[in-house]
Parts: sequence; structure tokens; C-alpha cells
Amino acid sequence: MGEPGFDTPSEVIEAAINGLEQGNTKYTRGPGSMELCQAVSDYLAKHHSVEVGAEDVVITPGAKQALLYSFMITTMPGDEAILLAPSWASYEPMLELIGAVPVNVPVRKDNFHPDLDAIRAAVTERTRMILVNSPCNPTGAVFTPAELQEIVDIAVEHDLWIVSDEIYARLVWMDYPHVSPYTLTGGSERTLIVNGWSKSWAMTGMRLGFLTGPSDAMGAAKKSQANSASHVPTFLMHAAAVALDCDDSVEEFNREYLKRREIMMGGLSEIPGLRVVEPEGAFYVFVDVTGTGMTDIEFADGALEAGVQLIPTSLITGGEGFVRISYATDEEAIYEGLRRLRAWLVD
Ligand SMILES: Cc1ncc(COP(=O)(O)O)c(C=O)c1O
Repeated sequence: MGEPGFDTPSEVIEAAINGLEQGNTKYTRGPGSMELCQAVSDYLAKHHSVEVGAEDVVITPGAKQALLYSFMITTMPGDEAILLAPSWASYEPMLELIGAVPVNVPVRKDNFHPDLDAIRAAVTERTRMILVNSPCNPTGAVFTPAELQEIVDIAVEHDLWIVSDEIYARLVWMDYPHVSPYTLTGGSERTLIVNGWSKSWAMTGMRLGFLTGPSDAMGAAKKSQANSASHVPTFLMHAAAVALDCDDSVEEFNREYLKRREIMMGGLSEIPGLRVVEPEGAFYVFVDVTGTGMTDIEFADGALEAGVQLIPTSLITGGEGFVRISYATDEEAIYEGLRRLRAWLVD
């Protein structure tokens, strides 16, 4: 599961409790309190060099809802949206829900980075949007700034939107940083940034995300939110702003994730038949299981019988032959999971 194996930072919990005790339980500003929207604007400038005004930030019930709004804003029924396959399992059904047509363009087989020629070839007159998710769930790929600039160039050439799902932006293990397409030449007028508190602050159950981008698109996002969710829980807004300053927790979690990544990769690479692709970001290992002679579904069923839960990615377009294993969980569980896999596949 993509569930961080950490407690939510205690400062955030305290702020949420204070919010309740102070009676912040009534309707409030739909896109989120100005304090929180300003905190997001400051956060993006500080960590990702993204310059957006607080009035162009919409706080949503999870990144998921921000994605849904961004799909509704950028596509009409029948329009095509390019996904880089394999991609996160919810994009396709979410696009289909609103009548848009997902067009899966496979990433490069060697490193799961975008195949730029294939993206170019997939653009038709119905294409309206390219979805970028870097660091990527499930592959762990972190696209380089040059690759992202080329994607922006394609979007500029064909006047397309980019929806950039940056929920793993703080989880990068490479010597080059996460770069938002918004900051690249031609990017700011066509990129909608989706992000949220679930992953880096271990706040999955608080359902807090945000969407930002060009003002006209954010006008549509505010209308979408006003007529559906209204807003996120009022008492959580200050807590979300507090989280954005919890750099010590984010950094501590990252040190732990790096350790867990090493343990997971080391353990898996000792098991014959598995080809482990080095994760460049996020907290998943993408493992080629074809060398075991099993399909990914057979492998996942066998693993479950051995007491290990993992995701067979043929459930996602373009993920055939691979499984996704999360190392977000605690070290002990990782060691135990590796022991069970070895007992099943080796001993
Ligand atoms: C790529 C990606 N985007 C979005 C989400 C949804 O995040 P949230 O919990 O903020 O809705 C997830 C959660 O697993 C994810 O992996």
C-alpha cells in the first residue's frame, strides 16, 4: 500500500485538536482559508521554485479530488488525455468517469522514462492534456528536467494542458531534483499542479490535497469545489499549514525511506528470477517477475499465500509482468516480507 509507515507529525495533530476546540467546525471559504492558501504558495516557492498567488490555490479533499477537478477542467467528453503507461491506477477510471478518453503511451522499457517520440506520435486533434507523474507511482521513475522540458515543448506545440501529479515531489533519491513542468519555459500557462499531504507528511486519512495553476483554470476549480465538496474540514486548515513547516519530520521520514529502499532492493535482488529496477523516487520498487516463469497475477497470488501483499501491475495498462512492492511500511515488516518471499521462492 502507499501508506506511509509513520505517525502524522505531533505538531499537526495538536493543531487539528486545537482547531476543533476553538470551534472551527462551521462552513468557511471554499478554496481553503487564506492562511492555508498563502502557506501553500510560500511552500511551493520555497521547495519547488513555483510562483503562484494564494488566490490561485484550491485546497481539496485529497490529491485525488484535485485530479478529478483538473481532468474536468482540461477535457470535455470525447477528448483524449495522454497517460504515460504504466501509471497510477486511478487516472484511467477517473478520466472515463467524465467521458474523456485515456490514451496510454508506454514509457521506455529500459528506465521507465518518457518515450518522447511515442508521445509526439500519440497526439491527435482530439488530444487536450498530457498527465505527468514524476516521481512516478508505480515505476519510481523521476523524469529529468530535459525530458520534462520536451514534454512541455510538445504541449506548447499542440496547445495542450499538462496535469502534473507531484504528490511524491519530496521523495527523490537522485542527484537531480524534482522539477515541476510549471517552472519550465512555456509551462506556467498550461500546467495544473496537483499535490497533497498524504505521502510526505503521513496524513493519508486527513484527506488533504491542493490544486494550483493558471488563474482561469483555478476559477473553474473553485466552481467545481463550490458545487461538490464545498471545502475541506475547517478545523484541519491550520493543521495543514503547520505541516508545511514540518521540514524536520519530512527529512526524517526520507532518511528512513532511503534505509528501507536499500533493505528492500538488497533483499529482492538476492532472489533468483526477480529483476529489480532501482527506484529513483517515491516509495515503491517495480519488479520484473517474468524470470520466475509466473505471470504477475500468479506471482501476486503466490506471494499472498506466502503472507506478502503486493500489486500485480497487469491490473494497470502497460504493467504486465511486473509487481509493485511498497517500502513505505516499517523496517521490521520489510525484513519479514523478504523472509517470507525467500521461504516461498528459494528455500
Ligand atoms: C500518484 C498518486 N496520485 C495521487 C494519489 C492520491 O493521494 P491522496 O491521498 O492525496 O488522494 C496517490 C495515492 O496513492 C498516488 O499514488
